[in-house]
Amino acid sequence: VDARTGLPVVGMVGAGQLARMTHQAAIALGQSLRILADSESDGAALIASDVIIGDYRQLTDLREFARGCEVVTFDHEHVPQSHLRALVDDGITVAPGPDALRFAQDKIAMRTKVTELGLAVPAWAAVSADAGGLATVETFGAEHGWPLVIKAATGGYDGRGVWVVGSLDEAAPVLEQLLGQGTAVLLEQRVDIKRELAAVVARSPFGQGAAWPIVETVQRDGICIEVLAPAPGLTDDQADEAEELALRLAGELGVVGVLAVELFEDRAGRLLVNELAMRPHNSGHWTIEGARTSQFEQHLRAVLDYPLGSTELTAPAVVMVNLLGADGDVEPKAIDERVHHFMAHWPDVKLHLYGKGWRPGRKVGHVTALGPDLDRTREQARAAAAYLMNGDAK
Ligand SMILES: Nc1ncnc2c1ncn2[C@@H]1O[C@H](COP(=O)(O)OP(=O)(O)OP(=O)(O)O)[C@@H](O)[C@H]1O
Ligand SMILES: [Mg+2]
Repeated sequence: VDARTGLPVVGMVGAGQLARMTHQAAIALGQSLRILADSESDGAALIASDVIIGDYRQLTDLREFARGCEVVTFDHEHVPQSHLRALVDDGITVAPGPDALRFAQDKIAMRTKVTELGLAVPAWAAVSADAGGLATVETFGAEHGWPLVIKAATGGYDGRGVWVVGSLDEAAPVLEQLLGQGTAVLLEQRVDIKRELAAVVARSPFGQGAAWPIVETVQRDGICIEVLAPAPGLTDDQADEAEELALRLAGELGVVGVLAVELFEDRAGRLLVNELAMRPHNSGHWTIEGARTSQFEQHLRAVLDYPLGSTELTAPAVVMVNLLGADGDVEPKAIDERVHHFMAHWPDVKLHLYGKGWRPGRKVGHVTALGPDLDRTREQARAAAAYLMNGDAK
């Protein structure tokens, strides 16, 4: 507890944009967010006052960081299991706990568990490190068809760690590289995806659950570029199914905090679970303006076992567009000018910049538009985002 305010100190491991936006929500609740950052120039380290520079792979750094925190939570899932368990043994409240977080850290553990629970997933197989690895790929390809998807079971994000391979010859070097560095490998049937959806929910230790409306996540090159809330054209049955499966997963896995369930809708309208994230997620950024309670506030409420807030929409249509670093450098001076024009042209569109350097493909911010109908709202958000990134609204 913070001695001055009497309110809890939440520790967040990781200092990217998720921690930065969680800090923003913590401020309104009177809380202090303590952040474990790799470097002083990390997005959240730039703006929070209680920052510890350290390495989340070092238990001594984690221990020093966790001292005095009511609860320790995460902006990424890369803290090793052994360290999480050591913190729990020290008496630290870790949320989500290691038993839950495992399923967001390891895609093979997740596939195994979700399959056991009877939920639909793409056909999959785990490849072991023995010499028979490529034979497993061959058998799997023969059964489920080519191309197929190879995934690193651990450590991937934004599509890094995902390869679509068209033949055994293409699969061999990927497999060799992953297994060679000791990374377990997951094979998946390539789903003929109609579109991708996400069910974002929160769960508290008390057992309360709350779900935001199901959203569509529009992807390009393995990266989410837009989120449409609520997902257009979803039947009531599909929406109920997605919401129920996410709340059920949160309960069965013992998740505390926000859980994002990435889903595929296949051509037959079936919903398949892709992967799980147990933290605020890109598919929930729209909630900052588009829902009564943002995912960042909800995550803080949940990890502190406060009652959860309303997830109601604040407008009929909400669209979030990611700002992805374009090729080539953008002069800071030009950016400031663009922000000025952006604000003049799109007074209804809300801008979020993460305080990051601009690199090709990197998520440097997002914009959110709210409106009476999807088409117009989407058009506005897209034009505003394109203008900010390219100096041109197309
Ligand atoms: N089995 C599959 N069939 C077809 N496309 C897939 C499959 N698995 C993944 N993809 C595509 O690749 C993207 C990234 O896959 P996945 O979500 O597993 O990786 P990630 O890098 O951990 O994710 P994130 O981008 O959420 O961090 C998916 O959003 C989807 O577009
Ligand atoms: Mg994903």
